[in-house]
Amino acid sequence: MKHVYRGQIFHISGSPKVTAAHEALVFVEDGALVVDENGVVAWCGEFSQLPTEHEHSSVVDYRPGFILPGFVDTHIHFPQTYAGDSYGGGQLLEWLERCIFPSESKFGDPDFGSMAAVEFTNQRVRAGTTAAMVFGSAFPHAQDALFEETKRRGLRLVSGRGIQTRGPGSADPLITSEEKAIELTAAEVDKWHAADTGDVGTALLHVALVPRFSLSVTPTTFVALGELYKDLRSKGVYVHTHLNENNRPGTGEVDATKADYQVNSYLDTYDGKFLPGSKVGGESLLGPRTIMAHSVHCQDGELARMAETGTSISHCPVSQLFLGSGTMPWLRTVASGVNISLGTDHGGGDEWLISRVANDAFKQHITEPGDAGVSMHPAEMLFVSTLAGARALDQENRFGNFDTGKEADFIVIDPEQWPALNNAVTHGARADDADMARDQILFALLMQLREDAITSVYVQGRKIED
Ligand code: GUN
Ligand code: ZN
Repeated sequence: MKHVYRGQIFHISGSPKVTAAHEALVFVEDGALVVDENGVVAWCGEFSQLPTEHEHSSVVDYRPGFILPGFVDTHIHFPQTYAGDSYGGGQLLEWLERCIFPSESKFGDPDFGSMAAVEFTNQRVRAGTTAAMVFGSAFPHAQDALFEETKRRGLRLVSGRGIQTRGPGSADPLITSEEKAIELTAAEVDKWHAADTGDVGTALLHVALVPRFSLSVTPTTFVALGELYKDLRSKGVYVHTHLNENNRPGTGEVDATKADYQVNSYLDTYDGKFLPGSKVGGESLLGPRTIMAHSVHCQDGELARMAETGTSISHCPVSQLFLGSGTMPWLRTVASGVNISLGTDHGGGDEWLISRVANDAFKQHITEPGDAGVSMHPAEMLFVSTLAGARALDQENRFGNFDTGKEADFIVIDPEQWPALNNAVTHGARADDADMARDQILFALLMQLREDAITSVYVQGRKIED
């Protein structure tokens, strides 16, 4: 049965770069989103212009609510579901050692892992995160619980067990031998990675190779992962890790990585540009299905290489504030041409909601010094929260906006559930000019949104039950 969802619709149409998001912004004040029996967008436009072929569809009237594409979180940590309490760790490396490795080790208990999978998935639904790249637990039973629960609820997921083959004592429960790491990752791919058949309704679940970061794996682990990826790349398997996050002089992750691998570029460690005892060789882990979290302190050459290979960045400003990691230079990163999506980095970040990440991105980038300071356009904020995430997951052809033929992933926002939001979107638009009023409403919506106001979540046209 076809359905017409009626409400105030915002989306970014087509396939623009972030710099053109403004021109691609669509707002339909009394809009209709028509979803066919396969969960695919059949039409989107003014309700009053509904084509006759859709007139007999059942109408779900969400007015005065808003209908937006589902949020895409391209970096969030499943084993940090309960790590929002991680006070006392200092910046990245100390925080990992003192807070995070002990917290993630609790997932060694299967009951705890299963409980966390339910809680993690509930939080995703509350936050309207219809698709996510999820940094996984080291423990296969916890990963199974995550995939099973995600499948049961009907959300999209890319995830892989966090690989660690070295680290400080507090990481011991998370560390395996190199052989075991490769074996467990290959087994996870066999069990959970769905090939993209192109058929609607299939392939919600995918697997990623997830070396935690370069300091958590040995150089020979990288070589073995490269060999594994040689076989798995063509199956659409993903790669996910952290890059250039913390550069505190002397003790930061960036300097420590360069010293450890004897490289001038952190990205080289993921790009097969070294072998133990040599500077060349190895398989690159970069490509259109690779997402680098953070990428705050990149050199121009690193940004150019990511753009060239189609590798995306998951920008995580909430976490970068929380851990004192600095500000990713927005204009410079955009100018490099690399695709920038958003990640909550929950654990490192203290928010689950992608629009809260867009909120911090706005505040961080307007505060950058001199000419670098920029006021992000609300269309850019919506773009990085939705379509850019689908692009980072290499699934822009399937979801991320309401173009005809896309799978219908969307959220419904009822502003009356959050008074500050309601005030802003109902009484906020001051401009006489329609385009300016549209921009003001979208800005208010993204800046003021909280979980309470997200009342329905749909993936492939199916409503996700509470
Ligand atoms: N780098 C390596 N591991 C982590 C992690 O768990 N969180 C963040 N923010 N950075 C990391
Ligand atoms: Zn992270």
